[in-house]
Amino acid sequence: MRAARAAWLVVPLALASGSGAAADPVARGEYVFDAAGCAGCHTAPDGERLAGGRALETPFGTFRTPNITPDPEHGIGGWSDADFVRAMREGIGPDGTVYFPAFPYTSYTGMTERDLLDLKAYLDAQPAVAQADQPHELDAPYGWRFLLPAWRLLHFEAGELPEEPGRDPQWHRGRYLVRALGHCGECHTPRNRLGAMDEDRFLGGSEAGPEGRPVPNITPHPEAGIGSWSPGDVTFLLETGMLPDGDFVGGGMNEVVEASTSRLTPEDRAAIAAYLLSLPPIGP
Ligand code: HEC
Ligand code: HEC
Repeated sequence: MRAARAAWLVVPLALASGSGAAADPVARGEYVFDAAGCAGCHTAPDGERLAGGRALETPFGTFRTPNITPDPEHGIGGWSDADFVRAMREGIGPDGTVYFPAFPYTSYTGMTERDLLDLKAYLDAQPAVAQADQPHELDAPYGWRFLLPAWRLLHFEAGELPEEPGRDPQWHRGRYLVRALGHCGECHTPRNRLGAMDEDRFLGGSEAGPEGRPVPNITPHPEAGIGSWSPGDVTFLLETGMLPDGDFVGGGMNEVVEASTSRLTPEDRAAIAAYLLSLPPIGP
């Protein structure tokens, strides 16, 4: 028991090495927060940081993100650690509200308990903003929150990703960054009519990404995807936003680079590249 617990403590710390503050939960939480890209969705264009109100256009209508500052009335200041872990891992609020998958808990569900608790420590340390949430404007039947339990039965499995035999720690770290924290699939994977990710075409590109724009295939298919890219091409893009042809990414990916991937350690960017280039290539 003792040995097992020690191992659990040591592994994530080793993974976070390079962030320079491995022992402090708030500093570790900041790294998790950046890798998971929470700020973009939860901050309105000219609004207070993390106070919500950003409009997210989707085929189902317009979502307005809630306040996740520690304000006790309008934010998540009154939440326990268990409330927070349940919201992130199961998509269920402290009062039993079932969340829409526009909140990518469908990816965050794979986060470790340690990362979730550090993330909460970081959020708790941010300034509270007393700003009320605004309602979503959704088209029926998507506006009907009561349909979500059925949706979840069909399309959602909660919990951490199982260990893949024969894969090394770098690959596992890359998978964790891509699938859980970075939620790359939420944009790069096509969705079915009910808005669930099509797992058979994971990262195979989507005609209807956020704001209705197409999102490219990032599997290593030689023509349809990034099969001709070297690992260095991928890490350079994640660090700088520059594509191998010298252009810069736009369309939401610039935000991902600026707020998330440019802030990761070089080791973590290399792990993302190794994982992406190990995926089964998906054709057009
Ligand atoms: C793609 C946009 C997006 C990203 C990225 C995102 N969220 Fe959200 N989040 C939402 C939306 C939309 C909702 C509202 C869901 C609903 O009403 O069913 C939400 C709801 C929440 C809630 C519930 C708040 C409440 O008052 O009930 C919490 C907590 C939360 N998000 C935390 C986070 C954290 C922490 C991160 C980063 C790890 C994050 N979110 C990243 C869109 C996002
Ligand atoms: C908010 C939606 C969104 C998320 C989340 C997202 N991407 Fe992207 N990504 C895009 C869009 C849109 C483009 C195309 C940008 C353009 O056309 O300039 C893109 C482009 C790319 C490209 C360049 C592909 C090419 O052929 O040009 C790579 C590589 C990439 N993303 C990797 C990632 C990784 C890795 C993650 C997770 C850490 C991620 N993306 C998360 C929307 C997203």
